[in-house]
Amino acid sequence: MSNVAEIFDTMEYGPAPEESAYVRDWLKEKSGGFQHYINGAFTSGDKAQKIIESHNPANGEKLGVFPAAGEAEVNAAVAAAKAAFPKWSKLPGHARAKYLYALARLVQKNSRFLSVLETLDNGKPIRETRDIDIPLVARHFYHHAGWAQLQETEFSDYEALGAVGQVIPWNFPLLMMAWKIAPAIAMGNTVVLKPAEYTSLTALYFAELCKEAQIPPGVVNIVTGAGETGELIVNHPDIAKIAFTGSTDVGRIIRRQTAGSGKKLSLELGGKSPFIIFEDADLDGAVEGLVDAIWFNQGQVCCAGSRLLVEESVADKVTEKIKRRLSSFRIGDPLDKAVDMGAIVDPIQRDRIQSLVAQGEKEGGEVWSPKIDVPEIGCFYPPTLISNVSPSNIAVREEIFGPVLTSMSFRTLKEAIDLANNTRYGLAATIWSENVNRALEAAAMVKAGVVWINTTNGFDAACGFGGYRESGFGREGGREGVYEYVKLRKEWGGVEKPVPAVNVEEDSGVEGIDQTPKQFIGGKQKRPDWARTMPVAAHDGTYAGRVSFGNRKDIRDAVEAAFKAQGWGATTGHARAQILYFIAENFSKRADEFTKRLQQLTGATKAKARAEVDATVSRLFAYGAWADKYDGLAHSPPSRNVVLAMNEPIGIIATVCPDTAPLLSFVSMWAPAVAMGNRVVVVPSERYPLLATDFYQILETSDVPAGVVNIVTGERATLVKTLAEHDQVEAIWHHGPADECKFVEQASADNLKRVWTNNGRARDWADARTGEGREFLRHASEVKNIWLPYGD
Ligand code: NAI
Repeated sequence: MSNVAEIFDTMEYGPAPEESAYVRDWLKEKSGGFQHYINGAFTSGDKAQKIIESHNPANGEKLGVFPAAGEAEVNAAVAAAKAAFPKWSKLPGHARAKYLYALARLVQKNSRFLSVLETLDNGKPIRETRDIDIPLVARHFYHHAGWAQLQETEFSDYEALGAVGQVIPWNFPLLMMAWKIAPAIAMGNTVVLKPAEYTSLTALYFAELCKEAQIPPGVVNIVTGAGETGELIVNHPDIAKIAFTGSTDVGRIIRRQTAGSGKKLSLELGGKSPFIIFEDADLDGAVEGLVDAIWFNQGQVCCAGSRLLVEESVADKVTEKIKRRLSSFRIGDPLDKAVDMGAIVDPIQRDRIQSLVAQGEKEGGEVWSPKIDVPEIGCFYPPTLISNVSPSNIAVREEIFGPVLTSMSFRTLKEAIDLANNTRYGLAATIWSENVNRALEAAAMVKAGVVWINTTNGFDAACGFGGYRESGFGREGGREGVYEYVKLRKEWGGVEKPVPAVNVEEDSGVEGIDQTPKQFIGGKQKRPDWARTMPVAAHDGTYAGRVSFGNRKDIRDAVEAAFKAQGWGATTGHARAQILYFIAENFSKRADEFTKRLQQLTGATKAKARAEVDATVSRLFAYGAWADKYDGLAHSPPSRNVVLAMNEPIGIIATVCPDTAPLLSFVSMWAPAVAMGNRVVVVPSERYPLLATDFYQILETSDVPAGVVNIVTGERATLVKTLAEHDQVEAIWHHGPADECKFVEQASADNLKRVWTNNGRARDWADARTGEGREFLRHASEVKNIWLPYGD
């Protein structure tokens, strides 16, 4: 027993456990086994299902058992969601808003219960579930009750998708569930959600709240199970969209499995986020931020600041401060209100952490952990720092998903950004500097969907969250998150029919003079690698001209040229607008020639061809207009921050054009991408490539910087394959027949490109509602949310 003087001396905290008996009583009530929540009722399903046990990772105690849904249960849940959809989606927004509001209120009323249950099931400290997870869950339902209310006015041109499948991980069980369910049902979709197998209990308690809120049967369905259950949902033909959060490997599998299905897809995957400290930072503040960035939730956070990059001049000081701070860390019972870190979710995850740290050490890393008590019972892992690492060390490259930080130093801003971007992920980044100019410059340069300046791990329902590159695609939260759950009304018409190839009569070109247009690469007309050409037929089968027969090498050269044109992304919207208007001006001067070409190739009447040419001029003007107007937003989340949601270019976009309206669609497929600051590699219609090659001179004379627009003609299948598989191509827009779309979606899974296909359906290119505008601009940009705190 220590006396008061000794306590003052050591400043040790006594235990401060949160009351949990009432939650355990609920668990006891369910000791016979939890059930799925399907069509508004709890049901056990088939007796043959596998049973999964849920454990408290802090001490191994069994919390309950639940079934792993098989085909019968998933079918029942999807059927219920499908049946509920027509009525739910037709409800006025206000009616849906009231249901979401009721859920938000119920989460608040049950917040202590949910916090304790989440802590028991997941092992994260009660301090976090009570102060972060559960309040954010309530906030998400409130915020999206608002979007439901405003749907008819703010999303008047959009409609709900249908029955949506949602698969979530175990690190923020209830919060991820809220991120998925709230926007989906707000917009009129119905859902089948599968929580993670380690942490299903709060979702099942939430199902009880859905019952209490009298959410109509079938609108929210929750089935439990592991990966196999998730797969059944993903592959179910009646599911209109899959929203997934979890590992990048599973994200890739889902991309492949949904290819060609027409299912909309959003993936929130892994990360290896940099935490950059400049020498002028408030170092104590930065180290506190760092503690939050990597040791929050035991580091089991997709956006964890797991890679410290610190300016060399302060590196030793920062390391010392980290070590001092960690030496007073308290790890233990997550229900204790005064612990810094709780338990790792499951021994499997702890083993994974251990093996990655061991491998990192083998590869030369210096591993340090503080000499503090780590409970022997339960699944705990100490806070760990790995220094002296090279960029190729496994601990620097791989998502460890545990309380492990790697540390490297840098000398210049450029070096910091090069190191920060030297990852296949792009989820988040933290920047610490007292110099706002430098911090904002770094924020603009870092490839990440969320950037925190002098703060970290800020989340809010009004601010989008999601990544670049292998961190996935799509956003959750904010207006951009809502678009993930709606589609443009009547965006597509009938089936996209490629125009059949026509046998061409003999080449009547003038002998000795090479009239074959080449590829347009890096601002120049370039001879194709193979030096092969192919004839192009007029509509009546007569010879119209020849184009280059491009191959893989030509595509690679075009991507390389686009890569070098990085400066385009940094030009102002005004400058891009000028160039697009200039292209329009130069093109309109040749309106007669293009009209004739369209007539010759497609057989259109003069009036029809002229109308397409005029529409093309108008389209170029439209994107000239948009180039300096598709601005971001400034959010004001409840915390004292301003969050700048900036629309940024994605990088290199490949656009593969259809045969329909071949001139207008060709321009409509690259102009929005270019307007937003992307560089493009365009594969024009295989049947009408001459419209694209005729365009070269216009591009050459319109001040378009070299490499911004690259055009490769040839056999589509080979060109598309190379583009889809190319690592440097960050997005691909493909308009063509359904089998091609499926192929592109599958082949793009490797580097998780953002893919936008027409799923084999035709678009009305002439109609500005479907042929241009915000839908295109959204696909041409990434929203980067930059958080900046107010005050000291
Ligand atoms: P996981 O990706 O396997 O699991 C996430 C969810 O997907 C769970 O609900 C799981 O049942 C489900 N699932 C698994 N396979 C599936 C499939 N083929 N089809 C459909 N659903 C499927 O992640 P896991 O195994 O729990 O963790 C492994 C590693 O993944 C972690 O160590 C971490 O590195 C990473 N991870 C990243 C997360 C993030 O938020 N970025 C979240 C969870 C894990």
